[in-house]
Amino acid sequence: MAAVIKKVGVIGSGQMGNGIAHVAALGGFEVVLNDVSADRLKSAMATINGNLSRQISKKLISEDARKKALALITATEKLEGLADCDLVIETAVEKEEVKRKIFRDLCSTLKPEAIVASNTSSISITRLAASTDRPERFIGIHFMNPVPVMELVELIRGIATDDATFETSKAFVTKLGKQIAVSEDFPAFIVNRILLPMINEAIYTLYEGVGNVEAIDAAMKLGAHHPMGPLELADFIGLDTCLSIMQVLHEGLADSKYRPCPLLVKYVEAGWLGRKTQRGFYDYRGDKPIPTR
Ligand SMILES: NC(=O)c1ccc[n+]([C@@H]2O[C@H](COP(=O)([O-])OP(=O)(O)OC[C@H]3O[C@@H](n4cnc5c(N)ncnc54)[C@H](O)[C@@H]3O)[C@@H](O)[C@H]2O)c1
Repeated sequence: MAAVIKKVGVIGSGQMGNGIAHVAALGGFEVVLNDVSADRLKSAMATINGNLSRQISKKLISEDARKKALALITATEKLEGLADCDLVIETAVEKEEVKRKIFRDLCSTLKPEAIVASNTSSISITRLAASTDRPERFIGIHFMNPVPVMELVELIRGIATDDATFETSKAFVTKLGKQIAVSEDFPAFIVNRILLPMINEAIYTLYEGVGNVEAIDAAMKLGAHHPMGPLELADFIGLDTCLSIMQVLHEGLADSKYRPCPLLVKYVEAGWLGRKTQRGFYDYRGDKPIPTR
């Protein structure tokens, strides 16, 4: 039987974590937001406030809803602060060893009946579930970026996920006003299995000199009616996340067609990770983005 979710923990307060906290609080859930960095938590709370205000100016929510949502969110640097949550969504960096350690530490304090979810973009839910004490109450709940704007959430069952966990997660996501696509547990699921090879191919197109950054983005915006060019989108997702997803596809499906472009590797090695570090395929430090190639 599906359980009732009241209190939601979110681990990682980066661009996805603050978005998930935002929509969960607007949906009326109590939210505990966790990060290893106090600075990240502080800036996440400021981002949530700013994004709620933007929704007010677009007349999507009321001032009262903003106040209520903010009052429902608390921030903590300690995982113990999540012990009495009914559902915990992990959305820390896309590194398997980091996630596994989080799950080990979390499960030692979290109440046994709670559901644990990962917002991973690509890592096997079955494998992550196996690093917890509750594979049957573990599930992939994959939000899209930016969370308050995008309609879709992918739900991914691991091999052991039980029906109650699936139904409870489905009800939670529906209460947030999102649509669900159910994906089997294969590398990168549905959206990123299709999207990331396209972005990687755009980077190869740049790497091989077929077009420059502006030409490639203009081509896909004006020639295929994509709302953002693929390189602009890569910067938006984060180039480290893009590289991690390509590595998971490459290793998980053992097919050379998924090999990450060496230029993507170079940008990540430079620490040019896109918007979040102010530089990627575009430089965001000035008034308007300037292509870096
Ligand atoms: N960026 C996207 O478009 C997107 C979309 C869907 C899913 N995701 C997935 O969401 C996750 C987070 O991505 P993001 O873009 O928000 O990354 P991000 O770099 O913006 O944020 C990651 C946050 O995790 C924190 N963190 C690192 N280790 C931690 C730990 N041990 N405990 C608690 N917090 C920790 C960091 O301090 C940081 O604030 C990844 O798994 C990513 O694949 C990303």
